Amino acid sequence: MFPAPVLDVIMEEEILYSETFRIHGNDFEHGGEVAAAVKSVMKQLGIRSDVIRRLSIANFECEMNVIMYADEAEFEFSVLPSQVRVVCKDRGQGIPDIGLAMQEGWSTATQQMRERGFGAGLGLPNIKRNSDKFEIESTPSVGTTLRYSVNLE
Ligand SMILES: Nc1ncnc2c1ncn2[C@@H]1O[C@H](COP(=O)(O)OP(=O)(O)O)[C@@H](O)[C@H]1O
Ligand SMILES: [Mg+2]
Repeated sequence: MFPAPVLDVIMEEEILYSETFRIHGNDFEHGGEVAAAVKSVMKQLGIRSDVIRRLSIANFECEMNVIMYADEAEFEFSVLPSQVRVVCKDRGQGIPDIGLAMQEGWSTATQQMRERGFGAGLGLPNIKRNSDKFEIESTPSVGTTLRYSVNLE
């Protein structure tokens, strides 16, 4: 038969809906707007409410992390027959130790961010918990990419 990478291409699902948003570092004023826009699209598309809830929690945490710790990002939301998927690719300081960043309670948030109610160190663990598939890649001084999805079936 075919080697695995070829099979992946053949089995790739069609994209039913896709939209890309831009997130700007330090833009607290518009914080949460991408997560809200994606939530409204998912409602219009008739996606199951438990899927909307889980993805919206993940999206908000992902968006706020870009605002707090990166310069800018492209946030791509896609709906496929079996899953809703996000790829958020940022340009920024990156994460030197992903193992540490994934630990509950670990945060480099500044005092100012903590005063705004951020910095509990639960964002990345919450994204992982609320998605069915989660991947994070980061290169210090270059940026971070998160890929996560919630299954529809
Ligand atoms: N997109 C990102 N770019 C750079 N660093 C990040 C990014 N997302 C998370 N981090 C780092 O990982 C840490 C943990 O993130 P998170 O679990 O969301 O907690 P919190 O945002 O409360 O600090 C952050 O404090 C930060 O150091
Ligand atoms: Mg966070």
